Amino acid sequence: MQPRPESPPLDNLTLSRKEGLKALAETPKRTQPELLTPKDKANLGEAARLEYEHLRSVWHANLGPIRTPQLKALHEDLWDIIDSNQQDGDKAKGAVAVDAFPGLGKTTAVLDFALKYHRKVIEREGAFTAAGHERWPVCRVGLTSNIGMKEFNRSLLEYYAHPGRKTGTAALFAQRALDCVLECETKILVIDDLHFLKWHDRNGTEVSNHFKYIANEFPVTLIFIGVELGNRGLYSEENTRGDITLAQTARRTTPLTMEPFVVTNEKHRVEWRNMLLALEKRIVLCRKFPGMLADELSDYLYIRTTGHIGSLMTLINRGCQRAARTGAELLDEELLDQVKLDAAAERARKALAKKFAHGKLTTKPRARTAKTVA
Ligand SMILES: Nc1ncnc2c1ncn2[C@@H]1O[C@H](COP(=O)(O)OP(=O)(O)OP(=O)(O)O)[C@@H](O)[C@H]1O
Ligand SMILES: [Mg+2]
Repeated sequence: MQPRPESPPLDNLTLSRKEGLKALAETPKRTQPELLTPKDKANLGEAARLEYEHLRSVWHANLGPIRTPQLKALHEDLWDIIDSNQQDGDKAKGAVAVDAFPGLGKTTAVLDFALKYHRKVIEREGAFTAAGHERWPVCRVGLTSNIGMKEFNRSLLEYYAHPGRKTGTAALFAQRALDCVLECETKILVIDDLHFLKWHDRNGTEVSNHFKYIANEFPVTLIFIGVELGNRGLYSEENTRGDITLAQTARRTTPLTMEPFVVTNEKHRVEWRNMLLALEKRIVLCRKFPGMLADELSDYLYIRTTGHIGSLMTLINRGCQRAARTGAELLDEELLDQVKLDAAAERARKALAKKFAHGKLTTKPRARTAKTVA
């Protein structure tokens, strides 16, 4: 079995640099390793077996992104906003804030959108602009705590690897960033983990005003991602000193959100089941069987993860690694019980387990509309 070379390798990149985003966008999708029977696997030679285990392990560590209803809905909204933002550069563009609790897939969904947008634009307009510059349709920066305007501008320059990113004033950095955006014809600016910004202190107001400046002067759509942005004041109309400049950001920003899976009605139970069926298809364990997740483990997985996709993907990933390593080659409650999970999921588990035990909740749809995978 020949390993499929990945060019370039994706396990050592950062999205703080444009090359990282390009590599993610343009590297062909991984192919799913072949599902072997236990007998076929036992018959592999030592080298082939090691190679198979490695491929499978990397595959299980990168199962997503799955097109969940939450991800699809977010993408639709983002397309609406991005497509409608094609007005000429003299008009300020509407911004978007993807605001939801941790671990619900905000970064994953927006990144997936950004990669699609990158591919679409490059395919339509080419890798170089008419003036001969490299085209970078998307710029992405992640905030760290205590960030001020200068550091923010510097991270924009870092993304483009601008030679002038080391020295200069905040204003100079901003001008250079604008040059990059214009030359590279960047259309989307993603700002992740915006909650690190303290809106109501000096830095917060400063950067908030700076976003307004960006929205006015840069021909880009801003996509903010963060946790509880509303409560932190992104949409508030004034800060603690009564300064109403924040209102401009509030007026121009459309809030979008992502929810965990719930199982309170039939439609949602079907969605949960479809999610498990999609996951099941991607699992490469020799003894997996139709319904392994969707029938046998549906309640169990919901109780353990409270419907949070981050916890679910971690549990499945770690479970698959363990099942492959120990030779169990399938997922069941006994094996998954040994897999440790994040603190929040473990805390919520007990209360939820009681409700299931008392028959107050179930994840199983009455009509199993979605077919179990063959
Ligand atoms: N649609 C999806 N398909 C598969 N896996 C997903 C999907 N969405 C999220 N995940 C997985 O869930 C985990 C958490 O997702 P992500 O980091 O996007 O959440 P987040 O909302 O940005 O969290 P935070 O607020 O902590 O930044 C990641 O490991 C990711 O791989
Ligand atoms: Mg995130």
